[in-house]
Amino acid sequence: MAKPVQIMETVLRDGHQSLCATRMHYSQMEPMLDSLDRIGYKALEAWGGATFDTCLRFLDEDPWERLDKLKAHLKTPIQMLLRGQNLLGYNHYSNDVVEKFVHMASKHGVGVFRIFDALNDVDNLKVAIKAALECPEKPEVQGCLVYTISPVHTNETFVELAKKLVDMGVHSVCIKDMSGLLKPYVAEDLVKKLKAAVDVPIELHTHCTSGFGSMTYMKAIEAGVDIIDCALSPFAMDTSQPCTETMVAALEGTEYDTGLDRQAMTPIAKHFLQVKKDLIKEFNLKGYFDVNPNVLDFQIPGGMLSNLTNQLKEMGMEDKFQDLLDEMPRVRKDVGYPPLVTPSSQIVGTMATMNVASGKRYAMVPNEFKDLARGKFGKTPVKVEAAFLKRIGVKDEDVITDCAVEDAKAETFDEFKAELIDKGFLNPTDEDVLSYALFPQVASEFFKKHYKTVTAYKR
Ligand code: CO
Repeated sequence: MAKPVQIMETVLRDGHQSLCATRMHYSQMEPMLDSLDRIGYKALEAWGGATFDTCLRFLDEDPWERLDKLKAHLKTPIQMLLRGQNLLGYNHYSNDVVEKFVHMASKHGVGVFRIFDALNDVDNLKVAIKAALECPEKPEVQGCLVYTISPVHTNETFVELAKKLVDMGVHSVCIKDMSGLLKPYVAEDLVKKLKAAVDVPIELHTHCTSGFGSMTYMKAIEAGVDIIDCALSPFAMDTSQPCTETMVAALEGTEYDTGLDRQAMTPIAKHFLQVKKDLIKEFNLKGYFDVNPNVLDFQIPGGMLSNLTNQLKEMGMEDKFQDLLDEMPRVRKDVGYPPLVTPSSQIVGTMATMNVASGKRYAMVPNEFKDLARGKFGKTPVKVEAAFLKRIGVKDEDVITDCAVEDAKAETFDEFKAELIDKGFLNPTDEDVLSYALFPQVASEFFKKHYKTVTAYKR
């Protein structure tokens, strides 16, 4: 009995985020959009994640305009990655900002919302999921299990989480393995359990960081996974996804045959190979990463590992790299075993770096780390011990048990809008206000440059 596997293509988002620091310009995507659209992918991931930030910060592109241009070429659903109450920024936003952002993204053409929370705290997903379910364009709403390894995370706990997501109304569930920690036989067991427990399509997203990628996909496919995330060859493997063409070829003639035309991918891959070479040159990037099975122990997502290496280099502490890798799991344990993904990965990474740099643990503690420990970003998988909170200077009265109460105090859409007008950007569009809400400084700089050239600011 045929059971074709569907492929979600990541070359326009995670592929270049993982291998080329999210620096792909829209102009480098455009020549291949019509060809990509004809392949028959389940969806094309092309927006969200770090793309919004890099558009404004490095590429001089308005992310909303990029989405419009993508939409003009693509009938294949455009997928975005959204960090729940964090949207695409690093703070929790007020509910009305979250709702407006989701509705605006849907209006501009997002067809699949992949929504996750770094702590797997479903309370942080409620507003975004509900908003996406209410969009008049009827996008697909996908909930994520942010995969991690710890003494408290088991396949059973992930199945319970999946049930909660389905109860919240999601149309599909994604196992989001951002650091490539999911082993093949564990994946097989997890997919089997999920298929038995919930009635929605299961998608698997992994990275080849530790070398498991394609093996994990094969076992997951045999266990009945519906969709796998792959990147076209130039942006595949290493810290990115398994390769699209390889997976298509591997399944050809089997009951799992994707039915996709591998030959039609060749010219597209050729184009993106040149794009990768151009990006490496333009931004002085490394462009490749060695396979690193030790990621299983230190669990640092691929993109962040290179950042940390640079940070240590700048501090003249390259020799402390192993100390840092040893310190990461200890800090993670102290702060209740959060999965390491934006923003928890940065917060735990910075704390570990400071511990190693000063030689004295928790001598100086950044506010973000205190916030993570005291529950400002939601419930940590394990409750942080009172003694540890005291040690890092968190008072009892500052501990947050319900972060929805805290989110209600966050700046509203109208307040962001007033702030923007105050700065001299008259008549901002709602899109501008949302860009500003997420990245106030970066968006302001972007608006300054485009105040005279972009019609939105002339109105
Ligand atoms: Co990813």
